[in-house]
Amino acid sequence: MKLGVCYYPEHWPRARWASDAAMMAAAGLRIVRIAEFAWQLMEPAEGRFAWDWLDEAIATLAQAGLEVVLGTPTAAPPAWLCAAYPDVLPVDNQGRRRRFGSRRHYCVNSPAYRRHTERIVTALAARYGRHPAVIGWQIDNEFGCHDTARCYCPHCTVAFRRWLQNRYGSLEALNEAWGTVFWSQTYDDWAQIEAPILTVGSPNPSHVLDYWRFASDAYRDYQQLQIDLLRAHTQGQWITTNFMGNYADLNYHDLAAPLDFVTWDSYPTGYAERYGPVFYRSDEQRPVFAWDVGDPYITGFCHDLTRGLKPRPGGGGTPFWVMEQQAGPINWGAINPGVRPGTVRLWTWHALAAGAEAVIYFRWRACLYGHEVHHSGLLKHDGTPDLGYHEVMRLATEAETLAAVAAYPPEPAPIALLLDYEDGWALQMQPHRRDFGYLHHLFVFYRAARQLGFPVDIVPYHADLTAYRLVIAGNAYLGTSAHEEVLERYVRDGGHVLFGVRSGFKTATNTATDAPLPGLWRPLVGATVRAWHALPNGVGYGLAGEVDGIGPEATFWAEALAPATARVLAYYTSGPFAGEAALTDNGYGTGHAFYLGFYPGFEQATALLRYLTARLDISPLVKGLPADVLAYRRGPYLLLLNFGDEAREVEPDGMQRMTVAPRDLVIYYPHVRTDT
Ligand code: GAL
Ligand code: ZN
Repeated sequence: MKLGVCYYPEHWPRARWASDAAMMAAAGLRIVRIAEFAWQLMEPAEGRFAWDWLDEAIATLAQAGLEVVLGTPTAAPPAWLCAAYPDVLPVDNQGRRRRFGSRRHYCVNSPAYRRHTERIVTALAARYGRHPAVIGWQIDNEFGCHDTARCYCPHCTVAFRRWLQNRYGSLEALNEAWGTVFWSQTYDDWAQIEAPILTVGSPNPSHVLDYWRFASDAYRDYQQLQIDLLRAHTQGQWITTNFMGNYADLNYHDLAAPLDFVTWDSYPTGYAERYGPVFYRSDEQRPVFAWDVGDPYITGFCHDLTRGLKPRPGGGGTPFWVMEQQAGPINWGAINPGVRPGTVRLWTWHALAAGAEAVIYFRWRACLYGHEVHHSGLLKHDGTPDLGYHEVMRLATEAETLAAVAAYPPEPAPIALLLDYEDGWALQMQPHRRDFGYLHHLFVFYRAARQLGFPVDIVPYHADLTAYRLVIAGNAYLGTSAHEEVLERYVRDGGHVLFGVRSGFKTATNTATDAPLPGLWRPLVGATVRAWHALPNGVGYGLAGEVDGIGPEATFWAEALAPATARVLAYYTSGPFAGEAALTDNGYGTGHAFYLGFYPGFEQATALLRYLTARLDISPLVKGLPADVLAYRRGPYLLLLNFGDEAREVEPDGMQRMTVAPRDLVIYYPHVRTDT
C-alpha cells in the first residue's frame, strides 16, 4: 500500500520544491502526481516546448526518493490554442459555445484538438517515457467532469452522422430502429440528422440514447489516441486515468478496458452532499453518520464500483488506486464541513479495505489563487502542516499493518450487482415516475448487502458471473440478446439472478418491446408482468408472503405478476392488484430467476437479501453490524470501520467482542485485535 500526494510545483517558487519534497518523504509519502493541468507551461506557444521546469521538478522529487505519476495536460488547453483554433471549444446543450477560462473546455471530436493532443502527448512521452522516476501516466483529468461528456458542436454533429451510418448502414434501418414515424420525424438525408438538443418538445429517446452512446464512444476513442501515443513512446510505465465513482455519463466499462488499471477521485463529504439525491429517494431517511465522514455507503459503492470496472476471469475486479483522496475540507460541496482528526485516516483505511493499492491525497498545499483557494491541502496556505499532514504522519506509523493487509486481495464477493450504463441512460432519460433512479435502485441493494455484512462486487454483464452465487439485475431495462444470453447461461448452469421492475421493457434502440413483459427475460422469469402502476407518494399496496419483512406495502411502483412456471414468494393483499403476485421465483436449468415486481425500500431490500442469502447458504463477514459500521475482509484480516460518532460493540462469530471507537477501526487477525 503506497501513499502519495497531488502536487502542483508550478504553483510555488522553485526555491520551495526541495523542502516540499523532503516533507513529503518525511511523512512516508512515496508517490507524487504532477502536471495534469500544466500545458501552457510545457508549451508556451505552439510547437515551442519548455521542459526545464518539469525536468527540475521531477529531479527534485526523485532526489527525495519519490516516484512520479505524470498527467497529460489535455484537460486544460492554453489560451493561445483556444484563441487560434476556437473550434476546439465545446458547445453545450443550449447550443452555446463555451469559453476559455476554466478547464475541460475542449471537444474530443475537434480535428484540431486531436492534432494538438497528439503533439503535446508525443512530446511529453518522448521526453519522460523512459525516465526512471516516472512510474506511470494519468491521461487527461476526470473525463466528463463539469458536464462535459456530451458536446454539441458542428464537428460532433458530423461525427455523429458517421457513427450512425456505421451502426445502421441505411437511413431506412435508422428510421425503423428509432421509430421516426412518430411525430413525422422520418429522415431522407443523413444531413438532416442533428444533435438531439433545442427541440421544442422532448426529442426522440432512441435518437438521444444513440447520441449518448456516440459521445461515450468519442471519449473512448480520444482516450485511445492518447494510450497509443503513450505506448509508442514509453517503456515500463503504466497508463491510467482518474474516474469519478458513480459518475455515469460515460461508459466507464469501455473506458476502463484498455487501461492498465483504474483510479478514482474520492471526496466523501462532497459526494455525500452532491450525490445524496442520487442515492436516496426524496421520501427516504438517510442514515446518520459522524458529521464529517460523508456517507460510507456512497464512498463504499464508488470503491466497489471502481474495482469492478475491470472484471477479472474467475470473478472479482482489479485493484485500483484512489488518485485523489480528500484530505481535509473541500470547496465544491454545499457546506464543505470541517474535517476532524482521524477522519482522513479512516477514509484511507476504507479505500485499502475495499481494494485500493495506493491512495494519493489531494492536494499538497492549499492554493493561494484560482477556483480552489478554499480547498484544503496537506499543508496550509502558509506552507505549514495542516490536519491532512498530521493524518499522513499517523498513517506512517501504521505502515506495516497497511502493507500486511494490502498483501491480500479483497474477499471474493458472493453477490454481484450488474451495472450497465446504457440501461441507466435509457431509464434516466424517461424515468416515467419522476424519481425513479437507476443508480438509486442499485444502491438500495448495495446498502442492504453491505449492512448485512456481505462483500459486493459491482460488475458489467461481461464479467465472469459464475463466481457469484447471486446476481442482482436491478433494472435490466434494455433487453438485448447479448445480455439475455449471459444471464440465461448463468441461471441454466446454477446461478441465481434477481430482476427488478421495468426489466426488459425496452429494446436495444430504446423503443418498447412488443413482447409481453418482461420481454426478453420472460422465459427465464417464468412469469408475465400483467400490469403496472406508478404509485403517488402516500399510496401503497399491501404485501404478504413467505419472505419475512417484505411488507408492509409496495410504494412508489408496483407490477402485477402472472406466474406461468414461477412460484409466488410474495403477493399483493390490497389495492387493485390484490391476490396477484409481487415477487416470483422460477427454477430454470439448475438455477433460479427471481422477479421483484415493486421498487423496494431499503428495509424490503434487506428482507429480500436476508431471505435469498439464507436460501443460498451464503454467510456474511459479520452478523448484526450496526448501520454505521462497515465490514471488509482481505485475506485473514477482518476490518471493521466505524463511521459513527459513538463507540460500537462488535462480535464476529467465534471471535472476541470488541469496541470500535468512533471514526476508528479494529482489525481481527484472525481472532485478535492487531493494534493499528
Ligand atoms: C477533482 C479534480 C481536481 C480538483 C479536485 C478538487 O475533481 O480532479 O483537479 O479540482 O476535484 O476537489
Ligand atoms: Zn464537439
